[in-house]
Amino acid sequence: MTVKTRPRIDIQSVFRLTELADYIIPFTIRAICDLGVADHLAEGPRTVEELAEATGTHAPSLHRALRALACKGIFTETEQGVFDLTPLAQPLRSDHPVSLRAAYPLLVPDIEAWAAFDHSIRTGQASFDGVHGRGYWEYMADHPDDSARFDASQQAATRLELRTSLPAYDWAALRTLVDVGGGNGAFLGGILAKIPSLRGTVFDLPHVVAGAHERLADYGVSERCEVVGGSFFEEIPAGAGGYLLKRILYGWDDEHALALLRAVRKAMRQDSRLLILEPVVRTGNEFDVGKLYDLLLLCMVGGGARSQEHIEGLLAEAGLRLERTVPTLMFPILEIVPS
Ligand SMILES: C[S@@+](CC[C@H](N)C(=O)[O-])C[C@H]1O[C@@H](n2cnc3c(N)ncnc32)[C@H](O)[C@@H]1O
Repeated sequence: MTVKTRPRIDIQSVFRLTELADYIIPFTIRAICDLGVADHLAEGPRTVEELAEATGTHAPSLHRALRALACKGIFTETEQGVFDLTPLAQPLRSDHPVSLRAAYPLLVPDIEAWAAFDHSIRTGQASFDGVHGRGYWEYMADHPDDSARFDASQQAATRLELRTSLPAYDWAALRTLVDVGGGNGAFLGGILAKIPSLRGTVFDLPHVVAGAHERLADYGVSERCEVVGGSFFEEIPAGAGGYLLKRILYGWDDEHALALLRAVRKAMRQDSRLLILEPVVRTGNEFDVGKLYDLLLLCMVGGGARSQEHIEGLLAEAGLRLERTVPTLMFPILEIVPS
């Protein structure tokens, strides 16, 4: 009689997979951000009861949320029922220089799209469109609350990108810069505030640029910046020294990306520069945040992050050429000229 041996199970990998597949921590981080808990720890450790009172929450439940995050290094329980910030929790404060508090909006329409993400993998189409019966930007135009939260999340990303891309590039040399799809002007405002010789134009859909005047005034740059509403598939303000596409191109399939690049090319002078700032996907198995953004885009808008070769192919079709790639601590800046 032969004795069957059971195959050896790598139980550590099973545990590791459980941890990786968990959505509890991401949702808990988001809830804690919404409640503003980290702000109340800015002055030092506090008891759960104090935090619950300050945030209008149920103390035992808040305790459960914080102890779960503490086991991931986000917050620390310094003694029973007393919590403090850790380096991972610091950016959850609203007043942190690169605050991520608003970076994780719990947008119900996004969550519904993620719940149907298998549709995207099956079809290559945005599951958002399938679930909501229309595209992401159309949906946002009709939902001002979601749109405002989305814009705030973009602003959080922008603060980080300002830090990493401002020192990496000679923005002053452009003299005039159009931020194409520039949202509410948070990035351009930040650049203009640091470079007094530069003038700019924020260009985005009319309902989005409506918020730009206030943002530019906050930066004190209103006199040096125009605000123009319109569609970048139609007409982009012409004749500037620089055109920026920051996290725009990857939101569109090749057909739309090409139409957009052609519209930018049409607006450019022969000596203008186009700067593309977004993740560029690398080959290989190493961690690459571009591969994560790629999925976000697939789920929400049906686009995706591209490799450098892919982008260069589109540029060539649009009458443009990659001049050089400028590395930053985050995404590279692709500097592009008319071919
Ligand atoms: C991913 S967001 C990036 C915003 C900004 N560039 C940034 O990096 O924070 C994409 C932007 O494209 C804008 N957009 C979408 N369709 C557009 C169109 N047809 N014309 C102009 N802007 C558009 C959206 O309103 C949104 O602000």
